[in-house]
Amino acid sequence: MHNYHLLLWFISLVSLSHCWSPTDSYAPGKVQCPSSDILRVADSISDEEDQWLRGRDEVTKKKVVDYLKYANMTDFNPEDYVNNLNKSIHIGLAFSGGGYRAMLNGAGQMSALDERTKGIHGKNASGLNGLLQASTYIAGLSGGSWLVGSIVFNNFTSVQDIVDHKTDIWNLKHSIVNYGGINVVKTLDYYKGISDDLNKKQDAGYELSLTDTWGRALSHQFLSTLDDTGASLTFSSVQDWDVFKNHEMPFPIFVSDARAPHTKIISINSTLAEFNPFEVGSYDASVYQFTKMKYLGTQLSNGENNGTCISGFDNAGYIMGTSSTLFNQFVLKINTTSLSSTIKSIITEILNDVSNEEEDVALYYPNPFYETDVGTSFNIANNDTFTLVDGGEDGQNIPLSPLIQPVRDVDVIFAFDNSADTKKSWPNGKSLTQTFERQFTETGNGTIFPYVPDINTFINLNLTARPTFFGCDAKNLSTLFQQRNISFTNESNPYTVYDSPLIVYTANRPFSHWSNTSTFKLKYDEDERNAIIRNGFEVASRNNLTLDSEWPACVGCAIIRRSQERNGEEQSDQCKKCFERYCWDGSLDSEAAQDKLNFTDQGTTSGNEGTKVSGSNVISFSWALWLCSLVIVGFFGFQ
Ligand SMILES: *[C@@H]1O[C@H](CO)[C@@H](O)[C@H](O)[C@H]1NC(C)=O
Ligand SMILES: *[C@@H]1O[C@H](CO)[C@@H](O)[C@H](O)[C@H]1NC(C)=O
Ligand SMILES: *[C@@H]1O[C@H](CO)[C@@H](O)[C@H](O)[C@H]1NC(C)=O
Ligand SMILES: *[C@@H]1O[C@H](CO)[C@@H](O)[C@H](O)[C@H]1NC(C)=O
Ligand SMILES: *[C@@H]1O[C@H](CO)[C@@H](O)[C@H](O)[C@H]1NC(C)=O
Ligand SMILES: *[C@@H]1O[C@H](CO)[C@@H](O)[C@H](O)[C@H]1NC(C)=O
Ligand SMILES: *[C@@H]1O[C@H](CO)[C@@H](O)[C@H](O)[C@H]1NC(C)=O
Ligand SMILES: *[C@@H]1O[C@H](CO)[C@@H](O)[C@H](O)[C@H]1NC(C)=O
Ligand SMILES: *[C@@H]1O[C@H](CO)[C@@H](O)[C@H](O)[C@H]1NC(C)=O
Ligand SMILES: *[C@@H]1O[C@H](CO)[C@@H](O)[C@H](O)[C@H]1NC(C)=O
Ligand SMILES: *[C@@H]1O[C@H](CO)[C@@H](O)[C@H](O)[C@H]1NC(C)=O
Ligand SMILES: *[C@@H]1O[C@H](CO)[C@@H](O)[C@H](O)[C@H]1NC(C)=O
Repeated sequence: MHNYHLLLWFISLVSLSHCWSPTDSYAPGKVQCPSSDILRVADSISDEEDQWLRGRDEVTKKKVVDYLKYANMTDFNPEDYVNNLNKSIHIGLAFSGGGYRAMLNGAGQMSALDERTKGIHGKNASGLNGLLQASTYIAGLSGGSWLVGSIVFNNFTSVQDIVDHKTDIWNLKHSIVNYGGINVVKTLDYYKGISDDLNKKQDAGYELSLTDTWGRALSHQFLSTLDDTGASLTFSSVQDWDVFKNHEMPFPIFVSDARAPHTKIISINSTLAEFNPFEVGSYDASVYQFTKMKYLGTQLSNGENNGTCISGFDNAGYIMGTSSTLFNQFVLKINTTSLSSTIKSIITEILNDVSNEEEDVALYYPNPFYETDVGTSFNIANNDTFTLVDGGEDGQNIPLSPLIQPVRDVDVIFAFDNSADTKKSWPNGKSLTQTFERQFTETGNGTIFPYVPDINTFINLNLTARPTFFGCDAKNLSTLFQQRNISFTNESNPYTVYDSPLIVYTANRPFSHWSNTSTFKLKYDEDERNAIIRNGFEVASRNNLTLDSEWPACVGCAIIRRSQERNGEEQSDQCKKCFERYCWDGSLDSEAAQDKLNFTDQGTTSGNEGTKVSGSNVISFSWALWLCSLVIVGFFGFQ
C-alpha cells in the first residue's frame, strides 16, 4: 500500500516536471539537460514538428475530404482527388492583432470554421464548416494571440463553449486593470497573486519586465479555468496534452518582433520570432535558428549549455504577453483609475521591481542565440538578452510569416484581418502590403508572397468588402523569383512557385454590429462581446451564405488550387467562375480612399460590398489623453 502511494507520488512528480514549470510556480527552475542539441539551424522544420505533422496529416486528410464533400463542388470527386495526392494539403489560419476587437472578431471568424459551432450545420451555415479541424497551422499575433491562446491553452476549447459559459473565460466586463470591478477584495487578491508570482521569478534570479505583469494579468482573463490561473503553465507542456498528441488541433504559433538593442523603430526588415509548442526562433536570415521551447531560460553560448539547464521560462501567459507588449502600458495607467489607494500602492510596489527603462519589451534572458554565427544580425547574436516586442509593430499585423515559409508547405492561408488601419478603425490591407514588401529585404530570406495592390486600391476595388484571393495563379509568381534572383528548383533551393500559398483574405466589416471598436477598448459587456463575435461569423460566412450560396465551393476551389497547379490539372468551370469572382485581377485604382470607409449603414443593404457612408468609432477622450501621455512618457523617459 505504502509503496503504491509512493509510486503514484513519483509518477505525478515525473509527469508534473515533464509538463509544467519544474517549480510548479511562475518561477523557472533547474532540470536535467537533454542529450540532443538545444539549438538548431533553421533550414527545415524541426524533427518534432515533422513527426507530429505525419499524424496531423492523417486527420486533416479526412477533414479536407469532408469539407470538399460539403462544399458541393461540381465535376469533382473529393475522395478520389485527395486520396491520389502525393502531398497532403496544408491549410493555415492567421488571426491578426488589434486588442479585444481583433480577439472578438477573430472569435466569430474562427467559430465559422469550427464544426463544433451550434447551428453551423443547418440554416446558419458558414460555408467554412470544419475548416478549423481541417487546418494544419493556426497562428495568432497580439490580440489574435489572445484568441489562439485562449482556445489552445484551454484544452482546445471552442468559441461556442466560451459563449455558453462552459469554458468560463472572457468575462470582459471589467478592465484588465480593475479586475474585480467594485469588488475591491477581488481586485486586491488579484494584484497580490500577481505580485507573489513575480516575486518567485525574481527570487529565482530573473530580471522582470513589464511583460511579466502583463502576461499574468492576461492569464486572469484567458487561463482562469486553471487552478493557479496558468502561473505554472508552460507553452511546451502542450506537447504532452492528449488533444495535441492525438493531433486533434492545428499546430499553434505565436508571432513577435525582435527589437535590436538601442533601437526604437521597428522597420519592415526587423526580425520576426515565432513560438510554437516545440521551439522558439526565426526563419529570418538575421537569426535563422531555433531553440527548444522547453529549455528557454537556459544559458547557452554558441548553442552549448554549461551542464545546467532551465525549464519553466516559457510561461503560456508570458508568451501571449510577449506577442502583445503594445498593451504593457495599461499597467502603467493605474494611477489614472479610481482604484483604492491600497491597490494602487501594491501595484506601484510590483512596478518598482520591474525594469521601467523599456516598458514595452519582453526580455528573454539569457539570449538562446548568444554568440552564434549563423544569423546575419550581429546585434542579436552579441547581446546576452533577446528583446521582443508586439508582433504587429512592424506593420505586419497578420501573422503570415510562419505560414509562408517554404519549408512548411502550406497550400492556402485564411488571413483574417481585424486591424485598425483607417481613421475609423477598419482594415485597409496594409498588413499584406507590408508582408509583400518584406520579401525583398535580406531578412525575408527566400519567402515568396504574392502580389497585392496598394491600400487605396484595396478600398476602391472593394477588396476589404468581401473575401479576396491573392496569388491565384502561381505561375505569375515566377517574376518574383526572377526579380529576387532566386533560382528555380535546384539543390540549394528545392522550392517552386507552387510552394507559395494562395491567400484568402477576409477583412473586418460591419454586418450586424459596429465591429470597429478601438484597439484600446479593454472593457466589453457580454452583449457587446457576443455581438462582435456574431458579426465576425457573418463576415467570414458571406453573411451566413446569403451573399453567395456558392461560397463553400469557391473556398474548396482555393483549397485545392495549389495541388492542381502542381499536378498540371485544369480548374473546373465552377472554380474558374469562383476565381473570377474572388481573385484580385491585378487592376489598380490608387486614388486616395482612406476616408471612404465611413459607413452609415451596416448589413446587407449595399450587398455590404461597398463603401456606404459615415460610421461610429470614436476613441474616447480619456483614451486620447492617455495616449498623449504615453507619447510624453516616451519622450521624456519614465521615472
Ligand atoms: C449541397 O447540395 C445539397 C443538395 O442539393 C444541399 O442540400 C446542401 O445544402 C448543399 N450544401 C451547400 C453547402 O451548399
Ligand atoms: C507523385 O510524385 C512522383 C514523383 O515524386 C511523380 O512522378 C508522380 O507523377 C506524382 N503523382 C501525382 C499523381 O502527382
Ligand atoms: C440562426 O440565427 C438566428 C438569427 O439570425 C438565430 O435566431 C438562431 O438561433 C440561429 N440558429 C441556430 C441553430 O443557431
Ligand atoms: C448567422 O449565424 C450565426 C451563427 O449561428 C447567428 O448567430 C447569426 O445570427 C446569423 N446571422 C444571420 C444574419 O442570420
Ligand atoms: C481535453 O479535451 C479532450 C477532448 O478533446 C477530452 O477528452 C479531455 O478529457 C480534455 N482534457 C481535460 C484535462 O479537460
Ligand atoms: C544589449 O541589449 C540591452 C537592452 O536592449 C542594451 O541595454 C545593452 O547595451 C545591449 N548590450 C550590448 C553589448 O549591445
Ligand atoms: C534594413 O536594416 C538595415 C540595418 O540592419 C538598414 O540599414 C536598412 O536600411 C533596413 N531597411 C531595408 C528596407 O532593408
Ligand atoms: C537564409 O539565411 C541564412 C542565414 O543568413 C542563409 O544561410 C540561407 O542561405 C538563407 N536562405 C535562403 C533561401 O536565402
Ligand atoms: C550555467 O547555466 C545556468 C542556466 O542554464 C546558469 O544559471 C548558471 O549561472 C550558469 N553557470 C555558470 C558558471 O555560468
Ligand atoms: C502612482 O502615484 C504615486 C503617488 O503619486 C506614485 O508614488 C507612484 O509611483 C505612481 N505609480 C505609478 C505606477 O505611476
Ligand atoms: C464619407 O466618405 C465620402 C467619400 O470619401 C465623403 O465624400 C463623405 O464626405 C464622407 N462622409 C462623412 C460623413 O465623413
Ligand atoms: C464597390 O461596391 C460598391 C457598392 O456595392 C459599388 O457601387 C462599386 O461599384 C463597387 N466597386 C467595384 C470596383 O466593384
